[in-house]
Amino acid sequence: VKRIGFVGWRGMVGSVLMQRMREEGDFTGIEPVFFSTSQAGQPGPDVGVEVPAVQDATDLDALREMDAVVTTQGGDYTEEVYGALRESGWDGYWIDAASTLRMADDSVIILDPVNRDRIDAALEQGTRTFVGGNCTVSLMLMALGGLFREGLVEWMTSMTYQAASGSGAKHMRELITQMGALRDAAGARLDDPAAGILEIDRAVTERMRTGDFPDDNFGVPLAGSLIPWIDKPMDNGQSKEEWKGSEETNKILGRQGAPVPIDGTCVRIGAMRSHAQAFTIKLTRDVPTDEVEGIIGSANDWVRVVPNEKDPSMEDLTPAAVTGTLEVPVGRLRKMRMGGEYLNAFSVGDQLLWGAAEPVRRMLGILTH
Ligand code: HSE
Repeated sequence: VKRIGFVGWRGMVGSVLMQRMREEGDFTGIEPVFFSTSQAGQPGPDVGVEVPAVQDATDLDALREMDAVVTTQGGDYTEEVYGALRESGWDGYWIDAASTLRMADDSVIILDPVNRDRIDAALEQGTRTFVGGNCTVSLMLMALGGLFREGLVEWMTSMTYQAASGSGAKHMRELITQMGALRDAAGARLDDPAAGILEIDRAVTERMRTGDFPDDNFGVPLAGSLIPWIDKPMDNGQSKEEWKGSEETNKILGRQGAPVPIDGTCVRIGAMRSHAQAFTIKLTRDVPTDEVEGIIGSANDWVRVVPNEKDPSMEDLTPAAVTGTLEVPVGRLRKMRMGGEYLNAFSVGDQLLWGAAEPVRRMLGILTH
């Protein structure tokens, strides 16, 4: 596998993928070809190796020349191109960050630190379609993979605190614009120690409720507030983000025949690009907390147990601490008052790295290096 087509490399997830590939020297030994839906003919990006001019991402003949196509372009592109490309007889590897093909019978959801055995078995059996998981799912499994590996999860809830980046680049900008609008509404009162806090609060709340508050993308205020719904409604009362938590996790783990129940409420909060999740885990047996810590902390090279103490939790278990890194800290580990089989946990991770670009980058690495 040498000739690799990249689609969507200018977008937010694509840019993170490009950055990680350059950092890891992944462009050496492959022949990258860059595709675009709008900029065909322009020179390709500087990735440290010779690249041809950008090609048209809807040109099936050009795509058919690729041994693998890596797309971070989004679901609409996958809808438009994937079926036609396969029907034309192309049997190259399709590596995709979008959700479109995740639950297809002939695709594998990729998260190699957790399911490398399933990826290898699928490759052996001729699978050609590999799809990155939902960000909260991938980050949850990076955090708690050890407990699943040991068969210790009877059921689990995940209550999420999801960053603006999960909605897209425009939403990240809008979050900051909203923060600025609130700061402006507080005005000089903020610098005046004598100004009453209730007056400041009233000014900020009024600003949030005015018709011209900058919320074209979120539809409602996120700064100074939150949004307790992510993605489309399903017909059982769940949001699609909540539905994915169970469906994708069990597919990644190869547990669709005997699924582990996973459910919870997914909430958008005013973080930039790191998602956090609070878990209630019903263990299959009462395992001592220090053993639990050992199991969680040894599951992969990026997970790290944060002691269940105030200062380390405040310093190490936050979007501010983790963003831009591959670390997946897990903390607040303690048995809950319901009994010894009930474990509390909290985790955080960069939604653009393990939640999007990194599993895709590593899958390409499995095929090429
Ligand atoms: N659906 C996720 C979110 C993004 O909205 O935060 C990536 O899977």
